[in-house]
Amino acid sequence: MNILITGGAGYIGSHVAKQLLETTSYNIIILDNLSTGSQKTLDTLKIIREFKFIELDLKEFDKVNIVVKENKINTIIHFAASIVVPESVENPLKYYMNNTVNTTNLINCAVENSVSKFIFSSTAAVYGEPRNIPNTGVDETYPTDPINPYGMSKLMSEKVLQDTASVNSNFKYVIFRYFNVAGADINYDNNDLNPRIGQSFPNATHLIKIASECAIGKREKMSIFGNDFDTKDGTGIRDYIHVDDLANAHIKAIKYLENNPSDIFNAGYGKGYSVKEVIETVKESTKVDFKVEIASRRAGDPATLISDNRKIKSKMKWTPKFEDLSLICQSAYEWENRLGENIDTK
Ligand SMILES: NC(=O)c1ccc[n+]([C@@H]2O[C@H](COP(=O)([O-])OP(=O)(O)OC[C@H]3O[C@@H](n4cnc5c(N)ncnc54)[C@H](O)[C@@H]3O)[C@@H](O)[C@H]2O)c1
Repeated sequence: MNILITGGAGYIGSHVAKQLLETTSYNIIILDNLSTGSQKTLDTLKIIREFKFIELDLKEFDKVNIVVKENKINTIIHFAASIVVPESVENPLKYYMNNTVNTTNLINCAVENSVSKFIFSSTAAVYGEPRNIPNTGVDETYPTDPINPYGMSKLMSEKVLQDTASVNSNFKYVIFRYFNVAGADINYDNNDLNPRIGQSFPNATHLIKIASECAIGKREKMSIFGNDFDTKDGTGIRDYIHVDDLANAHIKAIKYLENNPSDIFNAGYGKGYSVKEVIETVKESTKVDFKVEIASRRAGDPATLISDNRKIKSKMKWTPKFEDLSLICQSAYEWENRLGENIDTK
């Protein structure tokens, strides 16, 4: 099997590449323009097993087509995208071009070259600001209504995939709607957590990464955006999934598509933690205190966003292993420490 991983030098793509290199003999080809991905991550992955790396921007349609054709790709796992929500509001065309247009071209290229499986990174942002959520969380049939160009650019790509598969019987997809992805490579070295890869891009905006940056002293303080939500402690509640569990869902998806139809799956733990709880867990698990300020809410932040994950568990037989929030926070912190040893991560 020849698998093309777009965005494989980035945070989530590299964890999927790691698991594929470690647990399968599939032929792996990573395509990335290194805009937010890291060459060091690729160098670390090469220690596990050899793979081909092609430095290329997805907007170079003709060259992408040649890559898919010449490498006889039969599965594409597509991570490459722009991912910062506020930036998508300021610069929507960047998001529609990089996420929707480039994905549409990749899908076209896949169909032209008889690629049979396409696994796509979508996001819980397609649900927008869900209201009246049942206790079991938001399921995949919940109406989609993105409230920013990032979420819309992903939802449009979902539609392109669905319409394309409906008229191409040899082309199947799995769409994963990720909730809040966090943590780093679970790799024990004499009982010590020693992540080899993690989130490297310096301007990441994710809560656990920012709290970890505070814990290692890279940041002086951090903000909680809103403490007047209708939640138990007033701060937003989210569903945090460890990146290695998420990566494992992708490995399962490859097998799943062999005998099952295309489908959409939420990827989360179905368990919510408030922003305050997460920050407390980072402080407790790292034994470091740091300054936290209250700031006003950000536009478009829902009070609560938790997945209903019964579908992925029952249909894909996905069993998460790293649900402990302390472990998620510790792995993120240990990774931040490693990055701190050498700030230039590219
Ligand atoms: N991180 C999260 O919490 C989260 C949540 C929901 C969905 N997602 C989705 O998961 C995917 C991966 O996210 P991530 O957190 O690993 O981000 P990331 O920025 O770490 O990884 C994206 C990778 O894609 C590459 N890339 C971007 N545009 C490219 C282009 N035009 N051509 C070639 N390479 C390109 C980047 O260099 C980078 O290596 C994205 O599609 C994102 O929308 C992430």
